[in-house]
This record gives sequence, C-alpha cells and structure tokens, in this order.
Amino acid sequence: MNSFRVSAPGKLILFGEHSVVHGKLAIAAAVNKRAIATASEQDGIIIVDAPDYSVKHETKLADALCSLDEINELREKNDFESLKRMGREASTPLEAVIASALERVKGKCIAGKGIALSVSSDVPKESGLGSGSAAFVASAGAVLGVYGRKLDPKTVADIAYVGDVLCHGKPSGIDNNTVAFGGYLAFKKSNGPMPLKINPKIRVVIGSTGVRAPTSEMVQINRYWLELEPDRVKKIIEKAENIAERGVDALREEDMVEIGKLANENHVLLRELGVSHPAIEELVIASLKAGALGAKLSGAGGGGIMFAVCEDDGSQKRVADAIQRAGGTPIITKLGAEGVRKEAYNSKTIKAL
Ligand code: MEV
Repeated sequence: MNSFRVSAPGKLILFGEHSVVHGKLAIAAAVNKRAIATASEQDGIIIVDAPDYSVKHETKLADALCSLDEINELREKNDFESLKRMGREASTPLEAVIASALERVKGKCIAGKGIALSVSSDVPKESGLGSGSAAFVASAGAVLGVYGRKLDPKTVADIAYVGDVLCHGKPSGIDNNTVAFGGYLAFKKSNGPMPLKINPKIRVVIGSTGVRAPTSEMVQINRYWLELEPDRVKKIIEKAENIAERGVDALREEDMVEIGKLANENHVLLRELGVSHPAIEELVIASLKAGALGAKLSGAGGGGIMFAVCEDDGSQKRVADAIQRAGGTPIITKLGAEGVRKEAYNSKTIKAL
C-alpha cells in the first residue's frame, strides 16, 4: 500500500488580523505545534479518521467529487452562507480537501482510486492557532505525496483553502499560507504570501482563554461595522496596516521593545473593532502587569488566544504564571516553525488505516 505522511504547523497572527480580510497587510508566524496526516490509496471511497477533529466518516469517491463540484459552483457565486452551512457537517471540509487534491493530481476523470486519510493534531482547536488550516494543509500534502507530487507550499495552500472556506466563509488566505510556508509570512490579498527571510529570536507566551474563537462571526461583525461606520473602521484598518509594516522592520531588527509596543497598539485597534472578549482582556492585563513588553489578541478574537511579548526567559515564566492565575492556559512554543513537510512513515509502528 502506497502511504504518505505529511505534517503542518499551527499559526499565530502577529499583526493585522481582520484588516487583512479588507485587503491590508498582515504578519503571521508558524508555531511549533503540528497536525499530521497520513494518506493511502483506497478503492473508490474516501475514508477519513480524524479523532482530534471529531471526524470518522466514509463516503463514495463519486459523491465527494459531486459535492466538490457543488462547492466550486457556490464559490463562483460567492454564496458563502451556503458554503458555511455545508461546512457544518464535520467531515465535509476534509473530504473536500481530499477531493480537490485528487482532482489536482488526476484531472477531472478520476477512475476508481479514493483515499484513506488519518489526521491527528496537537494544535488546540478553535482557538485562533490555525488547527483547521494545519489539518487541511497536511491532508492536501499527504494526498499529493501518495501520487508522487512535490510538496510545493503554494500548491498545497491553494488546495487546502477550500477547507478554510467551508469553515469560515471567505477567509483572507493568511492561515493556510502561513501553515504551508512556515517561518514568518507577510500576507496581503493582492500580493498573496510573501515569506519573510528572517528568524528573529522573539519570546512570546500564547494565552488561550478556552473560549471558542468564532472566526466567521467575528469577521461578519467587522463587515457590519464597516457598513455602519465606514470612516471610523477604514481609519482603524489603515492604522493596523501601518502597524504591520512597522512590525516587519521590528522583526528584522529583533527590536523586542518595538514589537511589544506595536502589539499593544494593535490590540487597542482590535478592541475598537469590537472583536476582543472579557477573557482576552483579563489575560492581556495580567501579562502586562507581570512585565510583558506588550500583549494583544491574535486571530479572530471573540475568545480564542492572545500573546504576550517577553524580554527574556525569566519574564516569559512570570507572564506564563500570570496567564495561568488569570484563568488562561499558557503555551510556550517556538515561532517560525517549519511549514508543510514530509514525515517518516513506518507501517509497522502505525496502525493500518
Ligand atoms: C483568522 O486567523 C484571521 C482573520 O484575519 C480572518 C482571516 O484572515 O480570514 C480574523
């Protein structure tokens, strides 16, 4: 049996979430927590076993391809509400990613061959750390690998995007690209992914509120505010773009004080956009009181995660303790993790799919 195993990291948005949806620049980094997908050929059916995503499902290849056609029609019509409705069926996004990867390798006439896919992940779910994108990118990569294709990050990210569309409506594309490219990424819809060739030593503590981050709802809230108060909201998203631009310089220079300051400024803007949450505010305040150089929510907000920028190891420890005392879960992890990559597959040590 031809099997292929691929992993992809989570992601942390450093600057510019939400404004990126409106075409502005944002900066993200891959985090060292990973989803791992293993794919093998399977006659005529798609089997998905992803316990960390509560998915265990089997479908006929022909049905998965039909629903991919339907998904693509809805995407052409910009019918994101129907897409999100389809995405509520937990197995649909992963099956759509598999079908899309199969179409890419075999063209429209896919004879017989389906896929068995298993996915596991240590990226916390629905937190803002990109657990869905990590699973979609790893899965797309594993299917390409089964058919001997290269793990080109752009190709893998493009295939995986359908999964994010089904989960979130019309995401900017920063999540799937950060996860696929890894490292640090600047992203703007008009330019696409712009990998930053940097490897700054920045110490952060990520604080998870444990409150689900409802990405599409928070993006929708933003769209409403933009309609209701266009001048105010446009000014906020322009300021956020300026922060992201200054953020690139600060990262290049490893200027921790400036990175912290920019995080604080960006957090105020996100709060003004109405996407913070009391639990996020508590963790931000606790981090700053414990001596963090800056702190902000990260990702969609409305719950989810924040991160604090720390000067040294001692400060990182104090901030992590403060996050814990404030009711959050601190995560200390490396930023700039490797993007999508092949993993060794040993059929003897791995349960048969
Ligand atoms: C999600 O990780 C970040 C948002 O900017 C949404 C998106 O970019 O699609 C809130």
